[in-house]
Amino acid sequence: MRIDIMTLFPEMCEAFLSESIIGRARAAGHVDIRCVNIRDYAGNKHNRVDDYPYGGGTGMVMKPNPIYDCYQAVTEGGARKCHLIYLTPQGKTLTQERVRELSEMDDLVFLCGHYEGVDERVIEEIVDEEISIGDYVLTGGELPALILADSISRMLPGVLANEDAFTEESHYGHLLEYPQYTRPAEWQGREVPEVLLSGDHGKVDRWRLEQAVARTLERRPDMLEAADAAGELTKEEREILDTLKDV
Ligand code: ADE
Repeated sequence: MRIDIMTLFPEMCEAFLSESIIGRARAAGHVDIRCVNIRDYAGNKHNRVDDYPYGGGTGMVMKPNPIYDCYQAVTEGGARKCHLIYLTPQGKTLTQERVRELSEMDDLVFLCGHYEGVDERVIEEIVDEEISIGDYVLTGGELPALILADSISRMLPGVLANEDAFTEESHYGHLLEYPQYTRPAEWQGREVPEVLLSGDHGKVDRWRLEQAVARTLERRPDMLEAADAAGELTKEEREILDTLKDV
């Protein structure tokens, strides 16, 4: 999988992408992520990439041509077929399901907007999909692009030590994750739940499921309702849920 991030702040993206799990995944060749500076394609001696909005108003708008020329370079004049995603609060909200689908594609390009936005014509010309990471507004598309790159990369083979690791986690199924504990067994007067020290794997699994259902009911009842409506709750989850609702 290759991801090209078109941005005005490539160093900011590189800093994040060079660390931790993603940094190691890149070094090992599991994912090829490149940060491309749109300003290199400004095409004028002042390196201008933005201009005043037609019709007036505050803020600046990113000019179409630097973005288009950058895209042409990334796709080698259209020879590489890429799926281009523009990160914008106007996009469709990102879900784990969409992350999984995108992780099956080969060549992705992310466009990070800045200022008041991007000239609409270049969006019409090159963008395949618009994605928002949530109903709030950031100063630019870099953090959303990094969130998307991170969430996709961890789904790729070889990136996580244990490939099962992600299938059990929150938002993969319809439950939030159960609480985790590590040593010491007592900390600041708080003890690790006894069942986790019992060595009885059956009991541990049951306790974790109960915790996951209880947490989801308390924090994200909408997730449980959606799963119930879709007939996705297992018999065990149903039983736990009914018991919790009786209390
Ligand atoms: N750019 C600014 N805010 C954003 C958001 N919430 N999602 C995606 N891109 C953005």
